[in-house]
Amino acid sequence: MAQPRILILGAPGAGKGTQSAKITAEFDVDHITTGDALRNNKEMDISDMDTEYDTPGEYMDRGELVPDDVVNAIVDEALSQADGFVLDGYPRNLEQAEELEDMTELDVVLYLDVSEEELVHRLTGRRMDPETGDIYHLEYNPPEDPEVEDRLVQRDDDTEETVKERLSVFQENTQPVIEHYEEQGDLERVDGEQAPDEVWADVKSTIERNA
Ligand code: AP5
Repeated sequence: MAQPRILILGAPGAGKGTQSAKITAEFDVDHITTGDALRNNKEMDISDMDTEYDTPGEYMDRGELVPDDVVNAIVDEALSQADGFVLDGYPRNLEQAEELEDMTELDVVLYLDVSEEELVHRLTGRRMDPETGDIYHLEYNPPEDPEVEDRLVQRDDDTEETVKERLSVFQENTQPVIEHYEEQGDLERVDGEQAPDEVWADVKSTIERNA
């Protein structure tokens, strides 16, 4: 069986990164994430692309979308090097969804469904381990090792004000993408508000059913 080509959609904080880590381990696919790729290139000079700001970081710290040309190029390059993948953070608007259709076919389109109140709680309590990239939550998933706890950092865009902007950008730009896949009959909804292991059980069985 060829490795599956999986798209994971969901609002900021829905658990895409958490579930993608499990998917890559279980199905031996690449994790292609525009958020991480852009965070690693926050200071990249994009001023020659006729953009409003000169670096991706300036968009991200405001909770706004980085221009399509920048993101499309990242995804195109990553997909060309992957057999199977889980794509996380893209497409975020209908123009990106159209680009993606030209780049590859998909076997599974997952959507993690989580209420807005829960999203805010998850994002403001999220912490990252800068050494391993592991994701924690102060309340739901704190690290057991006190050494790890001491080195945890908060993402620059997880402040309450930026989280609100990210959620409103999601409603305006990405909700139509969800509807687009739903209208095509491709969307597999998963209740993302369950405990992480329960979400994972649903994600895994949905992939196995469709891939
Ligand atoms: P990106 O990094 O993609 O962020 P996001 O989509 O906002 O998603 P997050 O990474 O914040 O959340 P997640 O769904 O992965 O949740 P997680 O698993 O961490 O994008 C950042 C920025 O980059 C954008 O704002 C934009 O500027 C730019 N960008 C990226 N892609 C772009 C694109 N295509 N076009 C233009 N610009 C782009 O979980 C969250 C927390 O909840 C964690 O603490 C976790 O431990 C906890 N948690 C997870 N699951 C559960 C559960 N089931 N129960 C309880 N807690 C849980």
